[in-house]
Amino acid sequence: MDSGKPKTLAERIRDAGTSGAKIEDVLQTDQRVLARITDGIYRQPASALRELIANAYDADASQVVIETDPPRFDRMIIRDDGSGMSVETLAYVLQHIGGSLKRTAQGAKLDVTSSSNASLSPGGRKLIGKIGIGLFSVAQLTPHFQVITKTKGEKTRRIADIILAPEDAERALAERGGDTELKTGTVRIWSVPATDVESHGTEIVLMDLRPQTKELLRSQARWAALRPSPEGAQENWMPTATVEPVFHIGGLDYSTKRTISLPASLPWKSSDSPTQKFKKLVDGVRAQTATNPNPELEQVLDNYLRLIWTLSLALPSRYVDQHPFDLDAKSGLDFFAISNDAKGQASELALQGNAQVRSLMGLSSPADFEDTEFKVLIDGVQLLRPLKFGRAKESTHAMSRDLLFVGKCAPDLSKIPEEYRGGNLSFEAYLYWSPKIVPKDHNGVLVRLKGASGTLFDPTFMGYQVSEQTRLKQLTAEIFVHEGLEGALNIDRESFNYASIHYQFISRWLHGAIRQFANRQKLISGKLLSEKKEKIGQQLDEKLQRAAESAWEDARGENAEAPPEIVFGDDDKQVLERRAAGAPAFTRSAVLKASQKGKGKKLPADLEPRLRAIALVLQAYGVFDNMQYAMQEKLIGEIGRIITTEASDGD
Ligand SMILES: Nc1ncnc2c1ncn2[C@@H]1O[C@H](COP(=O)(O)OP(=O)(O)OP(=O)(O)O)[C@@H](O)[C@H]1O
Ligand SMILES: [Mg+2]
Repeated sequence: MDSGKPKTLAERIRDAGTSGAKIEDVLQTDQRVLARITDGIYRQPASALRELIANAYDADASQVVIETDPPRFDRMIIRDDGSGMSVETLAYVLQHIGGSLKRTAQGAKLDVTSSSNASLSPGGRKLIGKIGIGLFSVAQLTPHFQVITKTKGEKTRRIADIILAPEDAERALAERGGDTELKTGTVRIWSVPATDVESHGTEIVLMDLRPQTKELLRSQARWAALRPSPEGAQENWMPTATVEPVFHIGGLDYSTKRTISLPASLPWKSSDSPTQKFKKLVDGVRAQTATNPNPELEQVLDNYLRLIWTLSLALPSRYVDQHPFDLDAKSGLDFFAISNDAKGQASELALQGNAQVRSLMGLSSPADFEDTEFKVLIDGVQLLRPLKFGRAKESTHAMSRDLLFVGKCAPDLSKIPEEYRGGNLSFEAYLYWSPKIVPKDHNGVLVRLKGASGTLFDPTFMGYQVSEQTRLKQLTAEIFVHEGLEGALNIDRESFNYASIHYQFISRWLHGAIRQFANRQKLISGKLLSEKKEKIGQQLDEKLQRAAESAWEDARGENAEAPPEIVFGDDDKQVLERRAAGAPAFTRSAVLKASQKGKGKKLPADLEPRLRAIALVLQAYGVFDNMQYAMQEKLIGEIGRIITTEASDGD
C-alpha cells in the first residue's frame, strides 16, 4: 500500500479478483429514503417486480425472465440480458441508495445513460428510473437478495449478497434522532471467473421470501376460507361468499410439506408457447361472460395470476392482438377523431382499405423507444398488454359496432411561467366504447409514461363529474404521454400529483373527450332507436293491411275484386282524384282534427295506419256507399278519437 488514502469499494472489489474473498460493506442511506422504503410505498409484490423489470428496460435488455417458483414461492429470480453493471457502477449503486445515476452527468461516465442525453439509456430508450430506490423495493418481498451482474467483455461476474436490516435502522433512527446517514444493511461482494466473456446482464435472486409474501402469492387466505380444515373451519369462517377462482396455480399442503393437495387450474397447456399461454389467459377471462355478467379479475383469478395480469398492464410491451392505433376498417369498429377545441365535437373517421387509424390521424404510439424488442417472461408466460378491441361476447345491444375515439394533443403552455409549467406536454389517447368492458377492472383510464404504468385503470376518469353512469362503465381509455407529466408521478409510480399543471391539463382534455364521446354515442343510439321504431311501424302497417284485406275477403267473398287502396291525402287534388276513381279517400287534416277534437294533442304514429285499415273494413261492408264525403271523414275522425282516448285526457 503506497498511500494512506483509503481504497474505494470498487478498488477493493477489483483487488480481491476472483480469489473468492468477500468484500464486506455497510449499506447506508439517508433517513428520508429509508423511511420511504420501509413504509412500504410499494404495496404489492407486483410493484417490486415492476421496478426490477423497469431497471432491466433502462439497461437496454431485450428480454427479462422471471421465475417465481410456483406454487411454493420460496424464492424468485429476475434475469435480464441488459448491459449489466461495471464494478464502479455496482459500488456506486450500493453506496448511493436514493441517488440515481440516471439523468445525471455521472450516469454517462458509468455507461448508465446515453453519452449525449442523460434521460436516455445508452441504447436510446427513455429512462423510467430517476430516484435510485426501485431496486430496494424488493425489501417488501425479502430482506435477503443477491445481485449477480456482468458487463460485456468482462472475464468475471460479480455477486453482491445483500441483507437488509430495517429493524436495526429503525432502532438507530429512534436512538439517534437527527442523524441522516443510517446503516440499512450489509453487503458482501465477490467475483467469480466467467468463460462466457461476451455475455452480459443482471440477475436478481430474492432468497427467502417473507412469510406474508408467500402466503399472498399462494392465495392462502382465500383457500383457507374455501376449504377450511376441520379445526380451522371456525376461525376461518368468512361472512362474504368467497368464490373459488376459475383459474389458479394450485397449492401444496403446507402443513405436511410439498405434497400436492390442490391441482392447478390453468387456462393453458404446459406445451403452449409463452405467447399462446398469455393469450389463453386473456381469452379465458373474457370467456367468463358466458356465466358471469360482469367478470372481475378478483373472482376469476388467484393472486398469482392476478400478479401476472397486473404486471402485463404495467409494462412497455405489445398488445395481445394489436395496438388500437393499428386497427383498420376490417376490425368492425367505428372510428372518431377527438377535437382539441374546448367546445368541439368528435368527427367520424372514414378508414379506406387497409388504412389504419394511426396513419389517418398521424399517431406515433408506440413511439420509437417502445418499439425496440422488450420481452418479459414470467414462469414461461410472455406478458403482453391484455386489452382486446372487439366484443367479448355476442351482444344484443342495439349498437352492433364498438366505437374508438382517438386524439392527440401537444398544448402550447408558453403562457404559463416556466417554473410552474414543468416543460412541454404532448400525448396521444384513445377512448374505447363497448357495451361491456371485460374484465370490469379495465373500466377507466390508464395513463402511460414511456409505455410503462403503475397506476392501473382509474374508474373515475380523473374525477369526471358529469353523471354518465352507464356510458362511463362501458369505457376503457389509455393516455400515452410522450413528453411531460414526469414531475407529477409520485415516488411509487402508482399515482400522480393532481395539482401538477400537466395532470390538470390532461384531465381537462380527457373530460372534453368524454363529453364528445357521450354526445356522439347519444346521437348514434338515438338514430338507431328511431330506425328501430320505423321498422316496427312498417311491420304494424303490414299486419293491419293484411287484417283489413282478410276482412274484405270475408265480406265480399273469395272472387271479389281486389280491395281498393285507402288514401289519406294532404291536398284536395289528390283526394278528389282518388274519389273520382271510386276509391275511398280522406283529407288527412280533416280526419286528424276530428280525432283530436281541437285539443291539439299529439296523435300516435300508428293512428293513421289503424284508421286506414278500419276504413277498408267499413268499405268492405258498404258503410260508405251512401255517405257524403264530409260525413265519411267525420266518422273516421270520431273512431280515431275513440282509439286515442286515454284515462288522463281530462274530459
Ligand atoms: N437490471 C439492471 N441492469 C443494470 N443496472 C441496473 C439494474 N438494476 C439496477 N441497476 C443499476 O442500479 C441503479 C439503482 O436502481 P434503482 O431502481 O434503485 O434506481 P433507478 O432505476 O436509478 O431509479 P428509480 O428508483 O426511479 O427506479 C440503477 O440506476 C442502475 O444503475
Ligand atoms: Mg429503477
